[in-house]
Amino acid sequence: ENAQLKDIIAHAKEYGFVYPSSEIYDGLQAVYDYGAYGVELKNNLKRLWWETMTRLNDNIVGIDASIFMHPTTWKASGHVDSFNDPMIDNKDSKKRYRADVLIEDKAAAYENAGEKERAQDLLNAMVRLLEAEDLAGVRDLIINEEIKCPISGTSNWTDVRQFNLMFSTQVGSVAEDASTIYLRPETAQGIFVNFLNVQKTARMKVPFGIAQIGKAFRNEIVARQFIFRMREFEQMEMQFFVRPGSELDWYKEWSETRMKWHKALGIPEEKLRRHDHEKLAHYANAAMDIEYQFPFGFKEVEGIHSRTDFDLKSHQEFSKKKQQYFDPEINKNYIPFVIETSIGADRLFLMTLCNAFVDEEVEGKQRTYLKFHPAIAPVKAAILPLTKKDGLPEKGKEIFDALKYDFNIIYEDSGSIGKRYTRQDLIGTPYCIAVDHQTLEDNTVTIRHRDTTEQERVAIADLHGRLAEACSF
Ligand code: GAP
Repeated sequence: ENAQLKDIIAHAKEYGFVYPSSEIYDGLQAVYDYGAYGVELKNNLKRLWWETMTRLNDNIVGIDASIFMHPTTWKASGHVDSFNDPMIDNKDSKKRYRADVLIEDKAAAYENAGEKERAQDLLNAMVRLLEAEDLAGVRDLIINEEIKCPISGTSNWTDVRQFNLMFSTQVGSVAEDASTIYLRPETAQGIFVNFLNVQKTARMKVPFGIAQIGKAFRNEIVARQFIFRMREFEQMEMQFFVRPGSELDWYKEWSETRMKWHKALGIPEEKLRRHDHEKLAHYANAAMDIEYQFPFGFKEVEGIHSRTDFDLKSHQEFSKKKQQYFDPEINKNYIPFVIETSIGADRLFLMTLCNAFVDEEVEGKQRTYLKFHPAIAPVKAAILPLTKKDGLPEKGKEIFDALKYDFNIIYEDSGSIGKRYTRQDLIGTPYCIAVDHQTLEDNTVTIRHRDTTEQERVAIADLHGRLAEACSF
């Protein structure tokens, strides 16, 4: 893990954003907990996503499906048979790796050494072998490339095997009755199996969408890069049901809409890129990722997939229940095609955290702050009376009480004002509102802006409007 990511992980822990899960027991790999400011940031991101989907589009509604689903769901979706990653163990360190990731790392090393062509050849060879399900060939590639275990330093590898990423558990208390069910590895299937329920009860007409935010679970073989790849995470998915034949137009539309959304969050254009898939999954006729330049390189944040009628058709086949829609405009029954937008809330969180993290030297002094867009900042403003006497705390609390119903704000009256500013910088509060003696005379306060540290005098009466405007998206 590189130095910048290390700083971000340390900052996230120190200032109440993200902690390793069950840390007192030394943590649990690839599982994390969100702290006081982390949960606010995450909730803000989820709310923004939810509102852009369901409020700004009158043809998108939400649902909240359960994590457990009938086991046949995962047969129909293809997850039981093919939601696998190729895994390999090192016999000396007993460490387990994803075979494809070991090869990708080797290719990245070639690339860093300026051997672009060699890197590309290696990746192409890997893709060919994986597509042909030639796992022995994948192992040979690892041996021939002299890829060593980062822990033991040896190339004493086992065979490559397929490893299914779904977590399974038993439902039912009596052993004979118990049957195996899975923790959902994606939220999408909860939408597909409810397609007709929602269409009928919310009286939706194609084209329409169903949005959902919820937990998903994957037994990832490689746990690294902090909250980038987790075993328990949250997805925000939207399936948009369209008339067959119109799907590629909608795919184009959603790809553009989603890219705009990321830019509106304050992510600079040069840190985002679109990656069109050449190799398509069996159910897709177009697919792309929106990638962000994380400290460890450009990586996927969101996927937009044209999933054809694969899922609904498959559920129709397995459930023997028709999954058709009658389109009154063309007087026809059909299984709609689906455009999916799928983003991880935690990965979006990591992107906004990386993008916000500023550690700079100003006039010989180090200054660290988080420059979140005010709409997603965990705390919008801190009310800071200059001293603890002369009626300043009372005035500060009055301002706090007037704003607290509409904004997540903090009141703090101890410590030097400079220290209090620094603390707010570290959690990314965009505005510090200082209450001083002049406030008692003319009902004005000083607003200090996080990014510039500039200060301005503002009437208390204008604070609500100023915050509302700044925090809108
Ligand atoms: N329904 C489609 C689907 O699940 P995916 O590309 O496997 O597609 C979609 O996942 C998004 O979910 C990814 O772009 C990523 O943001 C997030 N995601 C997937 N696996 C994750 C993991 N292990 N940890 C955190 N986020 C993950």
